[in-house]
Amino acid sequence: MTNEWFKSAVFYQVFVRAFADSNGDGIGDLRGVMSKLDYIRDLGVDTIWLMPITPSPLRDHGYDVSGHFDVHPDYGTLQDFRDLVNAAHERGLRIVVELVPNHTSDQHPWFQASHDPNHPEHETYRDWYVWSDTDQKYKDARIIFIDYEKSNWQWDALRGQYYWHRFFYHQPDLNFDNPEVQKAMLRVAQFWVDQGADGIRVDAPPYLIEREGTSCENLPESHAYYKRLRAFLDAYSPGSMLLAEANQWAKDTLPYFGDGDEFHMNFHFPLMPRIFLALAQGNREPLDWILAQTPPIPANCQWATFLRNHDELTLEMVTPDERKFMWDFYAPDPEMRKNLGIRRRLAPLLENDRAKIQVAHSLLLTLIGSPVLYYGDEIGMGDNIKLDDRWGCRTPMQWDDSKNAGFSDAPADKVYLPVISDPVFSYQLVNVAAEQDAPDSLLNWVRGALNIRRQHPAFGRGELNVLPTTNPALFAYTRTTPQEKLLVINNLSAHSHKIALADYGIQRVRDLETGQDIEASVEFELPRYGYRWFQVVR
Ligand code: GLC
Ligand code: CA
Repeated sequence: MTNEWFKSAVFYQVFVRAFADSNGDGIGDLRGVMSKLDYIRDLGVDTIWLMPITPSPLRDHGYDVSGHFDVHPDYGTLQDFRDLVNAAHERGLRIVVELVPNHTSDQHPWFQASHDPNHPEHETYRDWYVWSDTDQKYKDARIIFIDYEKSNWQWDALRGQYYWHRFFYHQPDLNFDNPEVQKAMLRVAQFWVDQGADGIRVDAPPYLIEREGTSCENLPESHAYYKRLRAFLDAYSPGSMLLAEANQWAKDTLPYFGDGDEFHMNFHFPLMPRIFLALAQGNREPLDWILAQTPPIPANCQWATFLRNHDELTLEMVTPDERKFMWDFYAPDPEMRKNLGIRRRLAPLLENDRAKIQVAHSLLLTLIGSPVLYYGDEIGMGDNIKLDDRWGCRTPMQWDDSKNAGFSDAPADKVYLPVISDPVFSYQLVNVAAEQDAPDSLLNWVRGALNIRRQHPAFGRGELNVLPTTNPALFAYTRTTPQEKLLVINNLSAHSHKIALADYGIQRVRDLETGQDIEASVEFELPRYGYRWFQVVR
């Protein structure tokens, strides 16, 4: 079981473009990330997920891949990547990279050859994408980027046919019915493992294969391919971890784990919005509901949980009523909405309310799975809804109060996106240096919480047992391994509540933050959005 490191891991998601600029061109790069590895280690995470670093025209921040076997020149070189991996490994940090199997950029040489009948390699690549004479096929497939696209088909004048795309029109879907495409993507995975990557986040896995009369999502043929990818990696590089980004209902995510022979991990998409719902309503009901829907997963698998990421806070996995509530509550300004979601960062979403931000983290770090933190959220960074698409949540990391927030030496107008400068979240106020020096900062709180989590493997591996209460504002559960039993109580409401362990049938606990012992009969108060983490004393 030594290979199951991901079960007790904490992930830190880094947008390389946004993190640190080492050469003063205004763009974050791999050497920049390398210069911040001590910061990342000291935060208390152990795995870095790097968003796409391969060549790309960057119309979808790198998820539009135009070359699979190199590093985008903005970010450095393959040697820089290997150096980063080595420097990370020296610090006990692991590196996860992206694989985008579903589609490429329309600038990718494969597509260039495929769509151009006069291209010298046209014959080879002709069937690498999903071509059709009509745009009437696969009508049951939904459109994902509803703010940008009207159809999943795009006319290609050169070829005189339509091509299929589930995302932007400039991201044609690869044809995974073609065995050559299947092989090519295995080679890409092999290549990045050879460069030293410890794991792979697989982008948008549900949409690999299309079949008439289906939603073209989660098809058995797609799962068969992922099993093949897994078997290949298990044989080639045992211990390499596969993480799926399958944004689906809980029951549809189960097949991504297979019988423990497909993905090691999958993001728990339906849980995420319900953390925000529960906090908005001061009520545990959405959490109880989704946990009841969450099937047990194979013993060698793990959920990945998160509060925010680089995309809009997706509301695809909620009911229409819940979506309306979430939009009204968290995105009152229509500019805050994007596709079926909300394009805001964690701190602004939670009104920069420290207690709310902490209790959200308490749920993230203790409920189930391995948590994934999004860069900047640990210091409470803000967003910029004036920026296009999802870019407002991808602004430069705020390191200090110097020029460009210490992110880059470039002239401000050369920085790839403006740093946050609004009155509440401005980099002069919200930055790593200031928070490092302030014992009570959010950054130091996050470090402390991660430090406690690290000492108690049951937070990652323990069995979850949700405890019933008469007070719906209180959400309590235990996490149990043969070695230890932990008790977590969260107050989801803006009011303080009195509690006693006896309410939960527990005799005696030790507070993990203070070390203080508490007996069953002692009443104590949980302040608004308060939380307590305990070890049950036997
Ligand atoms: C994934 C990525 C998102 C990207 C999309 C298309 O959902 O998280 O950022 O736009 O795939 O590649
Ligand atoms: Ca740079």
